[in-house]
Amino acid sequence: MTALRSAPFPRLTADEAAALIPHGAMVAFSGFTPAGAAKAVPLALAHRAKALHDAGQLFQIRVLTGASTGSHIDDALAEARAIAWRAPYQSSPALREQINDGSVAFVDMHLSHLPPAVLSGFFGKVDVAVVEATEVTHDGRVYLSTSIGASPTFLHVADKIILEVNRSQSRRISDMADILVPKRPPFRSALDLDYPLQRFGKTYARIDTERVVGIVETDEPDELNGYSESDGISRAIAQHVVDFLVRELAAGRVPREFLPLQSGVGNIANAVLEGIGEHTDIPDFIMYTEVLQAAGFDLMQRGRLRGASTCALVPTPGQMQHILSDLDFYASRIVLRPQEISNNPAVVRQLGVISMNTALEVDMFGHVNSTHVVGRRMMNGVGGSGDFARNAHLSIFMCPSTAKKQTISTIVPMCTHVDHNEHSVQVIVTEHGLADLRGLAPHERAMTIIRRCAHPAYRDYLLRYLRDSGAGHIRHDLQACFALHQNLLRYGSMLPDVFPANPPLPAIGRTPGSCPDLRCPQSV
Ligand code: COA
Repeated sequence: MTALRSAPFPRLTADEAAALIPHGAMVAFSGFTPAGAAKAVPLALAHRAKALHDAGQLFQIRVLTGASTGSHIDDALAEARAIAWRAPYQSSPALREQINDGSVAFVDMHLSHLPPAVLSGFFGKVDVAVVEATEVTHDGRVYLSTSIGASPTFLHVADKIILEVNRSQSRRISDMADILVPKRPPFRSALDLDYPLQRFGKTYARIDTERVVGIVETDEPDELNGYSESDGISRAIAQHVVDFLVRELAAGRVPREFLPLQSGVGNIANAVLEGIGEHTDIPDFIMYTEVLQAAGFDLMQRGRLRGASTCALVPTPGQMQHILSDLDFYASRIVLRPQEISNNPAVVRQLGVISMNTALEVDMFGHVNSTHVVGRRMMNGVGGSGDFARNAHLSIFMCPSTAKKQTISTIVPMCTHVDHNEHSVQVIVTEHGLADLRGLAPHERAMTIIRRCAHPAYRDYLLRYLRDSGAGHIRHDLQACFALHQNLLRYGSMLPDVFPANPPLPAIGRTPGSCPDLRCPQSV
């Protein structure tokens, strides 16, 4: 069995494979979330980097992946200080620190843009691809595991290929795969996809076998997490979204057949899917999304989710067992695609996807910041949210109305960083309500967002900001538009007199009189 799965290439240990990667190399790892991420070689590379650093030698690489990864790539390599440059997305606390202290150069990108950018050589050549597979054949067919990500492109362009053949992953997972590497313009054909589950590719990626330098056998499963229960805020947000979709269906603005859904990752996204699944007025539906997570598998088992096109499988450990025990059921309902296609803007527009993503902050005119805390600290990256939001039939952004024990309002006068602008954002939802921005001019948008979505304690401030901001199509007071953020930086709370920061800050400068440059609530 093992021989069949990985013949006829040289077998290497993970350490031997890691030793083939030189300082300064551009290394492309498989992985889109921890699903299908390379595991043994990056870990061995991190050990090697530490040993070289201890011996006083330089060792850092440039790292590409599909999206975020398992701890074996970003956490391990960042902890070993082995990453000099990174694209296109991450969610590792250790790596985030290094991005934000400037020691790692991070390129935040739309995920659908990554494979064509790599194919076109935008980042230079890819020296080594390290890709997890379930089987490799003599004639160069590589069967990928639980994510496709950008691996087909990495395998296509890399000078050297190292394959991690993972015995813990089922070969039959690739029955779900539908792989195509679109050619570079002007030779790229239109994607013939008018139904989310339509297939036009192969179940494997193609490689030039001459480039394979070795195969590392592994048996470690993906890092899968349990299912965290939705909290009250997520459930309230979900309820607003579901009620809205039901109204859209009733009004005929969403057809009665319903439209494919894209859902971001995390608690809110899970709660929204659960809510949609519960509502009998919403018909059984299909997803066209980048990650299929716990709530999606649950709904698929119950027959509410008829099928899903995705780039990665992120079930709970229990759900993974279920998938493996009933692969016929899942393989007929799930299509695993490369990220260039799972997130393809043209297809999203063509299919009329309803996109639902999470924001860090939203401004009263409808711009969304998904990535940079107070405009400066990178959280994760834009991920696929822009691929979907800009092209969706309906583009919905959700977030709790406050963060950090209410010391931060997520509804602000002006976003400190913009990932999605007013032209791509149609609906904003918090636990307090839903703002439907379609057809509204800027001032009406602001009134609607403040009244429907802002936390009550911040509404007066926001309304007064709007009232006092002078004339213009979009009214802003350029002296005061970041006053809430400045308060946050200075006092640990956007409205320090209403929500003192915890632990309390020194009393100095916390009264409006002593910070005349800031629009504390009493001073407006
Ligand atoms: N200012 C400062 N911190 C904020 C904040 C704000 N406006 N809003 C949220 N936070 C903090 C939270 O307090 C939390 O901090 P903690 O980890 O210390 O508890 C953290 O940010 C994450 O917020 P949370 O409410 O738990 O949201 P989440 O886990 O759902 O993540 C995003 C929200 C925006 C970070 C996440 O969805 C993301 O990275 N989005 C961009 C990529 C994307 O949309 N991908 C899906 C596309 S298919």
